Amino acid sequence: MEDSIKKVAGYIAAAKHVVALTGAGISVESGIPPFRGKGGLWEKFDPMEVAHIDSFMKNPEKVWRLLISAMKDLLVSAKPNAAHLGLARLEELGLLKTVITQNIDGLHQMAGNTDVVEFHGNFAWLRCLDCGSREQTVEVELSQMPPKCECGGIFRPECVFFGETIPPKELDRSQIAASTCDLMLVVGTSAVVQPAAFMPVIAKQSGATVIEINPEPTPLTGTTSTILVQGKAGKAMREITAEVERILADKRQL
Ligand code: OAD
Repeated sequence: MEDSIKKVAGYIAAAKHVVALTGAGISVESGIPPFRGKGGLWEKFDPMEVAHIDSFMKNPEKVWRLLISAMKDLLVSAKPNAAHLGLARLEELGLLKTVITQNIDGLHQMAGNTDVVEFHGNFAWLRCLDCGSREQTVEVELSQMPPKCECGGIFRPECVFFGETIPPKELDRSQIAASTCDLMLVVGTSAVVQPAAFMPVIAKQSGATVIEINPEPTPLTGTTSTILVQGKAGKAMREITAEVERILADKRQL
């Protein structure tokens, strides 16, 4: 990992417009389980049962109960880890412009990133299926299942369920970010869910260097991405950010 850290830091320090695409893996060190692989949510729950819009519409109470048991850590105590903070620091340094995240946990915003595209929506807001009004999740009585709006309609979370399309605004913003960056950092995603996994392909086709941080290779590795920093996002981002700061400090002294 040491060699790739130095190399990646060099690329980042020389870049003009960095964009990050993140997935569940970046929040694992904040205590939030990923979807796939060992200990993943899809080992415990059938995604078609808990995360498909048809299941939700058919039995909102059941899906709400499953969702709440899957999301409770995120609702109560999750905090940004070194990987989220590293991306926020890269923004402060003027290098990172946009984070496209598939996560619904809000941890990038909590870490300090200001331009975050929530590709799969978020769990922070709920929307009434009848009148369309929105409420913050923390303001809603979640002991009653399914949670209901003042008008009596059922609330849904503002996350994208399987079977739904990506909100057009988020898709547009992501495609623009991917096609205008000169470096894309792909952190903690298995890169198997489309169209999110296509964003690095757009970046590459537009001439950007694509770098992955992940303990495991993905379908992007060696085809779309040129470097895989093979390890956990927290340690990797901490070391990369420190090295970028060192390179920039050296440059200023010249
Ligand atoms: P996945 O659960 O599919 O993949 C998590 C990735 O994180 C894997 O490639 C792991 O190797 C990696 N990983 C695990 N621990 C890590 C760590 N400490 N540091 C860095 N990487 C680590 O999650 P996503 O790719 O985000 O969609 O999944 C994409 C979409 O599938 C989700 O947004 C969700 C899901 O179904 C919807 O619900 C619509």
